[in-house]
Amino acid sequence: VSAVEVFGGSEELGVAVAELMVAEIRRDPEAVVGLATGSSPVAAYSAWGEMARAEGLDQSRVRGFALDEYIGIDPSHPESFHAVVAREAIGLAGLVPSQVRVPQAASFSETAAAGAEYEEAIRAAGGIGVQILGIGRNGHLAFNEPGSDPDSRTRGVTLTAETRSDNARFFDSVDEVPEYAITQGLGTIFEARELLVIATGGAKAAAVAAAIQGPETLDVPASLLRRHPRVRWFLDEAAAAEL
Ligand code: GLP
Repeated sequence: VSAVEVFGGSEELGVAVAELMVAEIRRDPEAVVGLATGSSPVAAYSAWGEMARAEGLDQSRVRGFALDEYIGIDPSHPESFHAVVAREAIGLAGLVPSQVRVPQAASFSETAAAGAEYEEAIRAAGGIGVQILGIGRNGHLAFNEPGSDPDSRTRGVTLTAETRSDNARFFDSVDEVPEYAITQGLGTIFEARELLVIATGGAKAAAVAAAIQGPETLDVPASLLRRHPRVRWFLDEAAAAEL
């Protein structure tokens, strides 16, 4: 059962998401939160941090798990998801760096072991409560590209040409965008208790409409979200334009 909310701007949208994150942490100071990279959640992370500071919320015991990471760029690279999570999720929201994990594999051959270890860490933490998600123009979730198995777990994947070109804006050229990544699987993501999906801008409108109203199909991984009992969509008007 999905709820869809449309906002006039990304700031209001960010505040709405942040209110839910802060409420979750008030309710459970040891909450396990799921963090996404990308442009979509940045406003939510900054509003979350501002609210937490304003009320003196203790976030020292909050744990976090990121969705995905490229393979083949060093975690110290400014566009590695380790760096993005440190800057944008941890830095803006005000989480404790040592409490947040990002999947990591130095090469594709390490992904089976690294994926199993990441899954075990999530399980040991008691599972993810509220998970923040963005979506790709092709309907991907994390780096689960079209065709991904709905039961998939954290694993190595090959990025599509479309995803690499979408993410080229963060690099000097598309050739620098890694070809492979390690990502939580759709099965992993769907085990979170609640999913908050953020999409902004007209480039996402078709993917949003396909995910919410189109047929449920492996070709649009986000269309599988409707199998989850608690999904909330946070859209701006441009992203909602084709609904
Ligand atoms: C990226 C990430 C996804 C993200 C999506 C959209 O490549 N792996 O987790 O949700 O693409 O990114 P953005 O929010 O920048 O549009």
